Amino acid sequence: MADAATETTQATETTVVESWTEWDPLAHVIVGRADDCHIPPAEPALDAKVPADSDMRGQWGRRPQESIDRANELLDRFADQLRARGIRVDRPTPIDFSEPVRTPDFETASQFGCMPPRDVLLTVGREILEATMSYRCRWFEYLCYRPLLQRYWEEDPNFRHEAAPKPRLTDADYRPDYLSESISIAQRLDWAAAKHFVTTEEEPLFDAADVLRFGRDLVVQHGFTTNLKGIEWLRRHFPEHRVHAVNFPGDPYPIHIDATFTPIRPGLILNNPQRRLPAECRGLFERNGWEIVDAAQPAHNTPPPLCYSSVWLSMNVLVLDPKTVCVEASEVYQAEQLDRLGMEVVPVELRDAYAFGGGLHCCTADVRRIGSCTDHFP
Ligand code: NVA
Repeated sequence: MADAATETTQATETTVVESWTEWDPLAHVIVGRADDCHIPPAEPALDAKVPADSDMRGQWGRRPQESIDRANELLDRFADQLRARGIRVDRPTPIDFSEPVRTPDFETASQFGCMPPRDVLLTVGREILEATMSYRCRWFEYLCYRPLLQRYWEEDPNFRHEAAPKPRLTDADYRPDYLSESISIAQRLDWAAAKHFVTTEEEPLFDAADVLRFGRDLVVQHGFTTNLKGIEWLRRHFPEHRVHAVNFPGDPYPIHIDATFTPIRPGLILNNPQRRLPAECRGLFERNGWEIVDAAQPAHNTPPPLCYSSVWLSMNVLVLDPKTVCVEASEVYQAEQLDRLGMEVVPVELRDAYAFGGGLHCCTADVRRIGSCTDHFP
């Protein structure tokens, strides 16, 4: 790959927050919690995501306590594994997710949880940005991270705590076409190819987990949880970055990019073979000598019960540095592939926590990775 031109920022002794990529050496991270997590009641954006034959259709309420305890046991163990490697780990403060949410524009009878901080917090350089979010049940989730963000703000004079404009999330934000329970997969794929997603362009919407950080470049998935106005908002908010919109027509439920396109180190990305990046979006990577490799098949044929995500959480890995990657312990094919690609693989048991909001990448959010703002696509 081409030599990267580097633009440096000077970290100081008081630097707490700084992270520019998905792969620089991880020094400080937030790991989510499963406490009090709820399956939220029906709402337009969620209904569009839950397959017609899913065991989650029609049921909502607090998740069973044994499953919460088991997920927390795994998340606590993961946090300890990271700490044992010298990484500082912080945890969110759950709010009462059984509380209904009511704003002048909408109401919903309960909330979601704070297992996946990656969905809410986007760290770009010395800034942590709270995403708009696009589900009503997740509107107040940022509150779980406020105690940490307040602390970072006090510890680090260069930390910028930002919040994107809270969206109104009226019915005008959602296309009624997606509200039917009987949309075929073929229909969904046609709509995805035509970029006809459940969210409209009423107002900017984005979830942080639709964004991947490549130094000076941000790659953002246009899909159910992020609309074009959300991508334009990010472009205006980060004027020093190049923001690239991508979409993956093979995904009938396009939410969150991190089980679809996974950068591993400079020059190497795993791509979900069912959701290949279209030719017109590949130029940026190909011109700069990046290799886009089909990810290994998942080890499981189905997700665990009451899980929103697909079996492709196999590729939702957490890179610790350009030579080391955490892979879910049962995902043996993904682990073997990354080993063959020259990575040291750290197995982490997390499958029983998947239902709470995703895998190893989802359940974490970067606070600090040691590195600077590098141009990988000069
Ligand atoms: N779209 C994703 C969510 C991954 C975090 C999936 O494959 O389920």
